[in-house]
Amino acid sequence: MWPNKSFDAVAQVRPCVTSMQVRLLAPQDAHAFQSIRLQGLIEAPTAFASSHEEEASVPIEEIARRIAPKPDGAVFGAFSEESIRGVLGIQREGMQKLSHKAAIWGMYVVPEARSQGCGARLLQCALEYAWHTLGVHQVNLGVNTLNVSAIKLYRRFGFEVFGTEQGSLRVGGLPQDEYHMVCRPPDGA
Ligand SMILES: CC(C)(COP(=O)(O)OP(=O)(O)OC[C@H]1O[C@@H](n2cnc3c(N)ncnc32)[C@H](O)[C@@H]1OP(=O)(O)O)[C@@H](O)C(=O)NCCC(=O)NCCS
Repeated sequence: MWPNKSFDAVAQVRPCVTSMQVRLLAPQDAHAFQSIRLQGLIEAPTAFASSHEEEASVPIEEIARRIAPKPDGAVFGAFSEESIRGVLGIQREGMQKLSHKAAIWGMYVVPEARSQGCGARLLQCALEYAWHTLGVHQVNLGVNTLNVSAIKLYRRFGFEVFGTEQGSLRVGGLPQDEYHMVCRPPDGA
């Protein structure tokens, strides 16, 4: 279970306005994942390192392979009435000396499902998975310094900024600054 800090974060997850189911994605979710992923890359290009051009032509078999749960990572999806509304990936670092860490990637909720607790539910599931299934000691992520809503959400779950990278991304020729954030398990394991 989650003592101390994480219990506080869980307590602050407000109930969803709509009934939202969060579950691990499987290869058969490849089309749904690809559709919401490409939507996110178009709608919020400064939120992701990847671009629509780079991902639009990836074959569906490759997407299915990428999202399949593995010992070192998984992708969560939030569903409402069978439709995918949000996604979030978590991946453990591959190298032995880095394998105590995982990174969150690709968090996205469609605009019409925002501010209903969907992002919080995805993050809660990913952190539980990180501490209890992957067994990592810290979870890192990068977030655009102007992404106030996402930063607030991450802070609620105990993420802290440990660095700022100026010009971390260039989107449409414009430099984008990123905060590097870390969350550690509440018991300091
Ligand atoms: C960042 C993002 C994932 C957040 O998703 P979300 O589903 O809106 O997140 P939540 O609903 O859990 O929380 C967002 C806000 O809704 C509020 N909220 C949550 N549940 C609520 C409820 N039941 N009633 C009213 N408000 C609620 C939260 O307090 C929060 O408010 P804040 O922004 O003032 O802090 C979403 O805005 C998004 O996809 N943005 C574009 C992509 C992006 O920025 N991804 C992050 C990359 S690092």
